[in-house]
Amino acid sequence: MYNNNEKIFICDHPLVKHKITMLRDKSTGTNEFRAIVEEIAMLVGYEALRDLELTYVDVETPLETCSCPVIAGKKQAIVPILRAGLGMVGGLLKLMPTAKVGHIGMYRDEETLEPQPYYCKLPSPIDQRKIFVVDPMLATGGSAIEAIDFIKKSGGKDINFLCVIAAPQGLERLAKAHPDVKIYVGNLDRDLNEHAYILPGLGDAGDRIFGTK
Ligand code: PRP
Ligand code: URA
Repeated sequence: MYNNNEKIFICDHPLVKHKITMLRDKSTGTNEFRAIVEEIAMLVGYEALRDLELTYVDVETPLETCSCPVIAGKKQAIVPILRAGLGMVGGLLKLMPTAKVGHIGMYRDEETLEPQPYYCKLPSPIDQRKIFVVDPMLATGGSAIEAIDFIKKSGGKDINFLCVIAAPQGLERLAKAHPDVKIYVGNLDRDLNEHAYILPGLGDAGDRIFGTK
């Protein structure tokens, strides 16, 4: 479902809704949480790949030769924002097994809430690739905006951002900062709390994926 802006897709599929409910539940353990994040990445990724270009090849079926569609065009790059974005990589690699994977390491300073970059490595050259930046949580939007700034400075042009849950504030800020980027959201939540955690949210995605606290 496009949210009166053709660059923002908010998922309305019952499977995604069901799985996000499981993630929200604080009794869902690390193993199950990680598996569900991967499944949601596949389901949101399926939408994000809808406009992949096709080309045609001749294929011999047991009955005749026919011209059949195959994926064409650009190569892909998946770029998780560490740590929590790592949880979405496996799901997207199942859809795009030949994609290269870059990494952007960033954590939010707990006082200022500003993203602090600590590691960046992108597949080179990045400019010809269709890029999928992934992070389960879009809260204030600071981390996603900074990561995409870096990718653009490195030459990236065709950029998509995928998340599991977004807060209205982060979604609006990201769409304003990078109006050319397509944003795919599993669910749009209600608000942020005073520590910029998403409400109702699912808590700290990185801690829940990796079992840290
Ligand atoms: C979380 C999350 C995002 C960021 C979102 O990461 O995975 O990267 O916060 O917040 P923002 O939209 O306000 O920038 P965190 O900084 O907790 O690091 P971690 O993944 O290493 O736990
Ligand atoms: N990062 C998280 O992991 N969870 C939130 O709710 C906000 C930022």
